[in-house]
Amino acid sequence: MNSGNSKVNLMSQDEMYDPSLSASRLLNGDRIYHYDLYDPPFYILSRYEDISYALREPDIFIEGHGNGPNFIDSSNGVLSDGEHHTLIRRIVQPNFLMGSIARLEERLEEIAEELLDDVMEEDTWDIHDNLSFPLPVIIICEILGIPTDDIHKFKRWADATVEQMCSEDPQQFEKELSHMRDYLLDLILKKRKHNEDSTLLSRIAHSKINSNYLSDDEAVNLTVQIFVAGNETTTSLISNLVWRLMTIDNLWEDFVNDKIDINNAINESLRYDPPLLGLFKTTSKEVNIEGNIIPKNSKVMMHYGAANRDPVIFKNPNTFDLTRDGSKVISFSVGVHICLGRELARLETRVTLNALKKRFPNLKLINEGERVGPFLFWGRKKLPVSHK
Ligand code: HEM
Repeated sequence: MNSGNSKVNLMSQDEMYDPSLSASRLLNGDRIYHYDLYDPPFYILSRYEDISYALREPDIFIEGHGNGPNFIDSSNGVLSDGEHHTLIRRIVQPNFLMGSIARLEERLEEIAEELLDDVMEEDTWDIHDNLSFPLPVIIICEILGIPTDDIHKFKRWADATVEQMCSEDPQQFEKELSHMRDYLLDLILKKRKHNEDSTLLSRIAHSKINSNYLSDDEAVNLTVQIFVAGNETTTSLISNLVWRLMTIDNLWEDFVNDKIDINNAINESLRYDPPLLGLFKTTSKEVNIEGNIIPKNSKVMMHYGAANRDPVIFKNPNTFDLTRDGSKVISFSVGVHICLGRELARLETRVTLNALKKRFPNLKLINEGERVGPFLFWGRKKLPVSHK
């Protein structure tokens, strides 16, 4: 039973519209919240201290049953645990180290400029559709070595993947997703026929564990995980930040006049508007947090959105404060599964926002657009603007 003040309903209209309501209800409620409005029911951790502890205990809070609320059978790619996870992560890690990411800056600037050229003559356009959605897709396709000729098809697939992760009826997305898997497997097998090149897909195709190539299933899943993890989330970081700068006080004007440090702004956006409100782990044994029990084999949501507003860690947590120390923000997770693409996401956002303010200092929001669909995600799927 939950003894908290208000019952949390992550999928209700008010909490979908403003997830900070879920955060405050959770932080004022039971330390381990039993959420029974989803099938299967799950537990939610909301205190910063508890999430930070759980993420640093990967043998107890395991990844292998998927990071959504449903129990997934197959454990592979980066959605795995222990030594297997270490080996898989080692395959893809080099492309995401600081040095590799820094080399992408010039190319990202070009992409941002091209996307902004396309809307230059428009009276109104959309931050999501024209800028924050295509940019991360193009760059991740280029890193992987996937053709960028049909990014709308990839968008459909990425959307289906995140909707499947959050849905009580995951089966309904299978048909669409089987097209994506076939497409990627075909590319991987072609890469395997040739000598290894500098693309990440080629590395995945040629990598071996214990002298064996990754299975088709694992190679495809790993590619999908990289592809999907980096798109919806970075898109939302860019849109959310533009949205807040345009709607709070005179922040856009201050940004245009170089009075705002973009790195602080990115950290504060990640804290205040985490693109992923939470992800799930599964308990490998019973957990006792100061007398509060989570049974073995339970799905547990790490509610980053709540932890980022825990007043024990963040003073005046409900204020968007660009002078805050962002080092404790937990939106990229911590521990062995810490987000692989965090430096890429930061760079993409920095480059995009800088290009935007240079080209369109008079940018105005037309309205607040629309929220993205799945309840674990927080971003704008529409954010219409004008610069005329
Ligand atoms: C603002 C953008 C992003 C946010 C908020 C974000 C957030 C996260 C979070 C919360 C995790 C989960 C860690 C866990 O299971 O404990 C994660 C993992 C991951 N992210 Fe990101 N991410 C972003 C961008 C990216 C990008 C651009 C990539 C590029 C490839 C990426 C690739 C990954 C991968 C591969 C993992 C799995 C790592 C593992 O399990 O070892 N992410 N991310």
